[in-house]
Amino acid sequence: MAYIEMKHSYRRYQMGDSVIVANHDVSFEIEKGELVIILGASGAGKSTVLNILGGMDSNDEGQVIIDGTDISQFNDRQLTSYRRTDVGFVFQFYNLVPNLTAKENVELAVEIVPDALDPETVLREVGLGERLNNFPAQLSGGQQQRVSIARAIAKNPKLLLCDEPTGALDYQTGKQVLQLLQDMSRQKGATVIIVTHNSALAPIADRVIHMHDARVTKIERNAQPQDIASLEY
Ligand SMILES: Nc1ncnc2c1ncn2[C@@H]1O[C@H](COP(=O)(O)OP(=O)(O)O)[C@@H](O)[C@H]1O
Ligand SMILES: [Mg+2]
Repeated sequence: MAYIEMKHSYRRYQMGDSVIVANHDVSFEIEKGELVIILGASGAGKSTVLNILGGMDSNDEGQVIIDGTDISQFNDRQLTSYRRTDVGFVFQFYNLVPNLTAKENVELAVEIVPDALDPETVLREVGLGERLNNFPAQLSGGQQQRVSIARAIAKNPKLLLCDEPTGALDYQTGKQVLQLLQDMSRQKGATVIIVTHNSALAPIADRVIHMHDARVTKIERNAQPQDIASLEY
């Protein structure tokens, strides 16, 4: 059995009298330690998949097996605990607490986690050793995103879920953030899933899940993913 298995998953949203099908018969597998890209145009259903994997949303049908457990059967309490300890999230717009420093933002996130890593150590690892006591407004977009990655990985999660993590960053800064995520998978064995609409990023992943119109249309494996340094997009 693969580390992650989404099987025949459906998610429908009721909008007044009509039903929007956001995920239609979505199935894929992901192995532990892989860097995965979920690729597709806006509205394809990518964030819905990510939110279901992260326990922020629930599907209507189908299985979502994470490390041997079907989280689609979880009740609210189990989902809360799963989100808290097993999942790290990285969002397009960082979502840092503005009146807490970089270090305090990471500390806040790990307070509720049993096997957390040391916040200062993780911030140093993402290259922010000199910026521990800066507030988000005193940091560039790329630095803020690195704080948010530090916040996610300090939880020592099973899964690192990133929704358009470079969407608000310029080209070079975006590459640094992708490098950090690729290193997390290659050097630390983290399972990293990145949602993007940018097909130029596909070569860096071990596995690419293509989505279109609520469905998975293709799954590719890269035997030799490209290094970010040599990537042009
Ligand atoms: N909470 C929601 N309520 C209603 N419709 C939603 C909701 N979330 C997503 N959708 C719809 O589901 C479809 C897929 O959305 P989403 O997963 O966000 O796509 P993507 O991330 O690929 O842009 C879109 O048509 C979107 O409008
Ligand atoms: Mg989205």
